[in-house]
Amino acid sequence: MPVLPTTIRPATPRELPDLAHFVVDAYSEFSTRLSVGNWATMQDNLRRAIMSPGGGLPLVAEMGGAVGGFVMYYPPGRSDGVLFPREWASIRLLGVSQAMRGRGLGRDLMKECLRRAEADGAATFGLHTSELMDTARAMYERMGFAVVRELERRVGARYWLFKLDLPTSASEPTRIKGAQ
Ligand SMILES: CC(C)(COP(=O)(O)OP(=O)(O)OC[C@H]1O[C@@H](n2cnc3c(N)ncnc32)[C@H](O)[C@@H]1OP(=O)(O)O)[C@@H](O)C(=O)NCCC(=O)NCCS
Repeated sequence: MPVLPTTIRPATPRELPDLAHFVVDAYSEFSTRLSVGNWATMQDNLRRAIMSPGGGLPLVAEMGGAVGGFVMYYPPGRSDGVLFPREWASIRLLGVSQAMRGRGLGRDLMKECLRRAEADGAATFGLHTSELMDTARAMYERMGFAVVRELERRVGARYWLFKLDLPTSASEPTRIKGAQ
């Protein structure tokens, strides 16, 4: 299938309700691996985090004019301060529609967030992910992310905090593994 160019742009507040629906749909592959109650909790958490971005910047990836991916980027100083030190850059809620998987949208969204984090002067980039999210976890590890610690279980699943140290302005330019 032809791979069209990807555009990544900030989402507008008016798009957030549709994007909440979009991300729940992207995560729906986990519904069969969770209890009914835990899947309901995961959906609530996803919707709430997207509808109330706080210090986060919602970003969408479009291919051929259609929204295919979403991520919430938190610049340094705006990370949640509980999971991540506030001065880290971080992401949450990365999701690509099942119809547009495997075309590079997930990696492109991550690369865009890493580019923004470096431009914003972050020294460290954080994310959390779970045993459910095998594709994402393997991608993060190939990009150079490493586990900091295991977190408390959520929705019945194991979760880990991952980080990637970014080059400071005084050091060499970044070479994100796999970036061109
Ligand atoms: C993880 C996710 C965002 C990846 O999106 P995507 O657009 O399909 O990913 P890409 O096409 O950019 O591929 C990224 C990498 O994963 C690999 N990959 C993609 N789909 C894969 C699959 N089904 N199995 C194994 N590897 C896969 C690609 O080969 C690529 O490898 P690279 O790191 O060597 O470049 C998507 O699968 C998703 O939305 N999953 C559900 C939600 C989720 O787990 N979010 C993460 C929250 S922490």
